[in-house]
Amino acid sequence: MENEKTGEVLRVASDEERDQAIIDAGFIPGWIGEGGLRPEPLHDFEPDTWNWETGRALLEAAATSINPRVAERRNIRMANSAAEKRTSLNTIHCSYQMVAPGEFARAHRHTINAGRFILESKGAFTTLEGKKVFMEPNDIILTPNWLWHGLGNENLEAPAFWIDFLDDPLVAALKTIFFEVRDEDYKEMPIKEGSHHHIRWRDLDLQLEDLVPDPNGRYGKRLQLQTPSIPTMRLYIERFDKHMTVNPVKSTANHLFICAEGSGTTKVEDKTFNWQRGDVIAVPSWKLFNHRASINATLLEITDQPVIEALGWYRETTV
Ligand SMILES: [Fe+2]
Repeated sequence: MENEKTGEVLRVASDEERDQAIIDAGFIPGWIGEGGLRPEPLHDFEPDTWNWETGRALLEAAATSINPRVAERRNIRMANSAAEKRTSLNTIHCSYQMVAPGEFARAHRHTINAGRFILESKGAFTTLEGKKVFMEPNDIILTPNWLWHGLGNENLEAPAFWIDFLDDPLVAALKTIFFEVRDEDYKEMPIKEGSHHHIRWRDLDLQLEDLVPDPNGRYGKRLQLQTPSIPTMRLYIERFDKHMTVNPVKSTANHLFICAEGSGTTKVEDKTFNWQRGDVIAVPSWKLFNHRASINATLLEITDQPVIEALGWYRETTV
């Protein structure tokens, strides 16, 4: 089909030819594909779940062949099931990590903000700025932007496992990732008690007992953790009594939920995920979701809500 030029205006014989001529000239027509204005956000991440029993078995199998001295960390990424994703959601992410008995991994620091929720530890530690912090199951350790942190496991029999949660998809999208390594002498290192980057489960457990569920049915007993060193993620711990169901909500924030104890289900739009200790649920933004506890249960919630709020885009609705 021939194009006919009239003055400087290109005339084409069909819509396809018009669009192709624009693409051939190095543009993309603003009226096709992504980038256009829509009444509501479209999300290319799916609601998803990862199972701890499966993750633990896979890490144990990898223990003999993956050396953290080479790989930096022995972890498996909770990649979203949507096509070609390496992260759990588009701003926040989780991985399962293992440290073998008697194993140590060198210290490093990065601009990514991170934290770890401890699944199993009988003598595992994180080093924070050159001091050892020993970790108990269900403790949370924060490793904020540019803080030196290493890790090791002094137990010679039992491996240690935890869930890393990070803002790395956000930092990667903004092209602001920096990373450095250094060796530390873990044998001579002092032990730190009472670091403000160490949130102890035993303290959380006591605080939760003094709370009451939200009278409007939106939450169980819910506590926001003090994490001022991490501006990109907000953490809540939420406890549900047996058979408690909270009201559905959807918001422009992304959510990852880690089951700390008990079991239950999370419904996200038309999908229902079962969870028990160590399992992780990903709820992309603008998806209606709610939780139901099968037995007494506690979830750790990680959300990018402070980022969305800071930029003026936070919305929530119950329909
Ligand atoms: Fe790290």
